[in-house]
Amino acid sequence: MRNPKAAGFARRLIRWQRRHGRLDLPWQNTRDPYRIWLSEVMLQQTQVATVIPYYGRFLERFPDVDSLAQAGLDDVLALWSGLGYYSRARNLHLAAQQLMARGGFPEARAELEQLRGIGRSTAAAIAVFSAGRREAILDGNVKRVLARHFAIEGFPGERAVGQGLWALAESLLPASGIETYTQALMDLGATVCLRSRPLCAQCAVKASCMAREADRVADYPRKRARKPLPHRKTVMPILLRGGKVLLVRRPASGIWGGLLCLPEFPNLPAALREIPLRFGCELESHRMLAPLEHGFTHFSLTIRAALCQVRSLHPRAAQAGEIWMPLARSLAAPIPAPVRTLLLGLRE
Ligand code: ADE
Repeated sequence: MRNPKAAGFARRLIRWQRRHGRLDLPWQNTRDPYRIWLSEVMLQQTQVATVIPYYGRFLERFPDVDSLAQAGLDDVLALWSGLGYYSRARNLHLAAQQLMARGGFPEARAELEQLRGIGRSTAAAIAVFSAGRREAILDGNVKRVLARHFAIEGFPGERAVGQGLWALAESLLPASGIETYTQALMDLGATVCLRSRPLCAQCAVKASCMAREADRVADYPRKRARKPLPHRKTVMPILLRGGKVLLVRRPASGIWGGLLCLPEFPNLPAALREIPLRFGCELESHRMLAPLEHGFTHFSLTIRAALCQVRSLHPRAAQAGEIWMPLARSLAAPIPAPVRTLLLGLRE
C-alpha cells in the first residue's frame, strides 16, 4: 500500500466494528437484496433513528419487490410521508417495476446503478451487503472520515477531488471482510467521526489520522462557501366543509412532488381573493393559526395556515387534482409532514 497512513486502516476498522459498531439494525443479518436496497434508499439523507419505524411499516405493507411494483404510487408515498425527499419514493416504485421486468435483482454494482434512484455509493452498498461484492462506498459520512484521516484539502464536491476520494476509497478495501468493513465505515462516520465535535478519543483509526495529528479536524472536509439559506413564506388555507378538507395534488417535480397538499398562496389577501375563483368556495370565516417553520435543503419556509370555514360551494365541474377528503382520512394520505402537523392540530 503506497500511503503509509493506510496501513492496517481496514483491519483496525473491522476489529472496531465487531466490538463497537452497530450489529443489529433491522436491515442487517440478511442478504435479501430487497430489504437492503430499501434500507439504503431510506438512509440516503436520513438518519438511522428516523428510518427505523418507516422501514418496518414499509416492509409490512410491501414485503417484496413484486408487492411494491404492483402498488399504487399514492400508497407508496403515504408510507414515505414525513421522510422527505419524495423523489426517492417515486424512484423506488419505478425501480421495483424495472426489477420485475428484468426478473430480479442483479448482484453487480454496475447493474444496480442502472436502477432508478441508485447512484454509485448506494449501488456499492447493496452489492456489498447482499452479495459480498468487493466495492467501495463513498457517501457523505465516508467522505468526511477519509477527508480527515488523509487530510484531503480540496472540496469533495469538486470533480477532481471526488475522483481522488473514490480512488482512495477503492485502494483501502480489505481482501476479505468487505461487509464488516463497509458497515464499520458507515458506523464510524455516524457515531464517532461526527460532523461537529467528533469523538476522536474513541476512534478506531485515530493513531494514523492526519487531521488529528495536525490538530485540524474541524478543517476537514472543506466546506463549500455557503450563502445563507433563502427564506420563503407561504399562506395555506385549510378549507373545511362538513368534516372534509380541500387537498390539491402537487406537480410531480419540485418540492413535495406528487403529494397532496393544502392550496398555497403568497399572502392572505391573495388567498381570500382567489379561493372563491379557484375553488368555488364562499367563506364563512377565516382565522390565522400559529406560523410553522419548515426547513428544506435549499431554503427555509414559514407556513401561515388560515383555518377557513366554507359556507357554500358554487356548483362547478370538479377540477382535476382537487380532493375534498374527510379529515381523518387525510392523515393517512400522502401529505407533506408540516401539512400533517397542521391537520393533526385541528383535532384538538
Ligand atoms: N447509512 C447508509 N447505509 C447504512 C447502513 N446500511 N447502516 C447504517 N447506516 C447507513
